[in-house]
Amino acid sequence: MVPLKRRKVVSSNSGQNSDTDTSKESRFPQAVIFILERRMGASRRAFLAQLGRSKGFRIQDTYSESVTHIISENNSGDEVRTWLGERGQHRSRTPVHLLDISWYTESMREGQPVAILDRHWLQEQQRHHVKAPVFSAASYACQRSTPQPGHNTLLTAALAVLAESAELNGDEGRSVAFRRSEALLRSLDRQVQGAAELRGLPCLGEHSRRVIQDLLEYGVSCEVEETKSSSRYKAMKLLTGIFGVGVKTAKRWFTEGICSLAQLETSGHTLNPAQQAGLKYYTYLNQPVTRHEADAVSITVEDAVRSVLPGAQVTLAGGFRRGKMSGHDVDFLITHPDEGKEEGLIHKVIACLESRGLLLYHQITRNTYQESPKGAGRPSSNMDRFERCFSIFKLTNDSNPEDTRRVQTDSGCRPWRAVRVDLVVSPISQFAFALLGWTGSKLFEREMRRWAVHEKSMSLSSHALYDKNQKRYLRASSEEEIFAHLGLEYVSPSGRNA
Ligand code: UTP
Ligand code: MN
Repeated sequence: MVPLKRRKVVSSNSGQNSDTDTSKESRFPQAVIFILERRMGASRRAFLAQLGRSKGFRIQDTYSESVTHIISENNSGDEVRTWLGERGQHRSRTPVHLLDISWYTESMREGQPVAILDRHWLQEQQRHHVKAPVFSAASYACQRSTPQPGHNTLLTAALAVLAESAELNGDEGRSVAFRRSEALLRSLDRQVQGAAELRGLPCLGEHSRRVIQDLLEYGVSCEVEETKSSSRYKAMKLLTGIFGVGVKTAKRWFTEGICSLAQLETSGHTLNPAQQAGLKYYTYLNQPVTRHEADAVSITVEDAVRSVLPGAQVTLAGGFRRGKMSGHDVDFLITHPDEGKEEGLIHKVIACLESRGLLLYHQITRNTYQESPKGAGRPSSNMDRFERCFSIFKLTNDSNPEDTRRVQTDSGCRPWRAVRVDLVVSPISQFAFALLGWTGSKLFEREMRRWAVHEKSMSLSSHALYDKNQKRYLRASSEEEIFAHLGLEYVSPSGRNA
């Protein structure tokens, strides 16, 4: 059937006829680009167009005679010519470049239209993609070794933003899903080149895969960029960055319109002592603690602990034990080889540190753990019940003037800086569990507990391991034994950066 009126302008998708060439400020006016929706889908096309425009490309939503470059994905040259023919565009007045998506992708990466090479022209037949070697990985993070930072930092950093944003929204399920994707990518032994290599991998949900695909192709994900620049994310990050402020409190403040520390200070809210200290030392506490500083704190803590209880052992836990070069705090586990001697130790250590003027803030919680003969309750709970002290140390350049092991801190020309320190006291009989629990990462621990429950019918905490089938506690004096009880291959601390 001959069309009544040969249309000059052809929409790529029926029903949507807007010719929104929003490229008034295009940096490359000579290339007028039209992205074919066929085999691509509307949302992906919209994303690509938005990305192009943000980089100053001239993208037309509808096909017209001014188009110079047609971009298509998974179509052959013949198919695109047929598509044009069906729309009455048999003989184009100017030669139009029929290009593969790869030309667009590379141009996005370069930030300008790249030269058209042979491989960019649409093939006459649809190309069969060469099969990339596919990755494989176990489903639980505790079955894998996950190094820091891994080979896919572009991808893992982006997924971490989405995980954090979900966390700040109080959406734990979503946050854990992104954390699992992030951990899986960090565990891969080489850089991912294309989304096809991720086929069949566990832990990667549809949403994560979409984000990964955008990152692999364009080096950027609109969703991640939008999240990072959203006022809610920025405010929630800032407010929860105050020591003592959790998501719930930050949310309440944000809904009242508080978005900055200055607004909080003038809001008239009464802050608890932790929050007051958090606000007072905000800048210090939001500046990563370096390995040097962690070593300096270690020496200070060891010194204080030994002076009040000779024979007591101090172990650096948390991210630093996993080999991280920086962290948000420094975590220590304290124990004594004679069970019972550690009781009440924290008060003495704190008194010692205070007398030396090394504490800016501290809050002690008592040990409330009791083994129940009926087995461990609430196994999935992350809260443990050790005697513990949340504190803020005053780390000076010469915290240990007499100590020959003195470590240079990184506070530069400042005489001191504030550092968050967690001190946890464990009876020796629970020490292996405490060490495993406090070494982290949070996701690794979570995955171990999930493995214990679902695969072994056991319940793991930072205090104990309970076998529900045998109805008894399984003792362990090393982390290796705990892995063995759980039927897992041992993963060293540096491999627990899930
Ligand atoms: P952190 O929050 O200090 O994390 O908890 P991290 O891995 O050291 O990271 P940065 O570098 O400080 O940011 C350390 C470990 O202690 C456990 C966590 O689960 C994590 O594995 N932990 C923390 C508990 O078991 N209970 C708590 O109340 C807090
Ligand atoms: Mn830590």
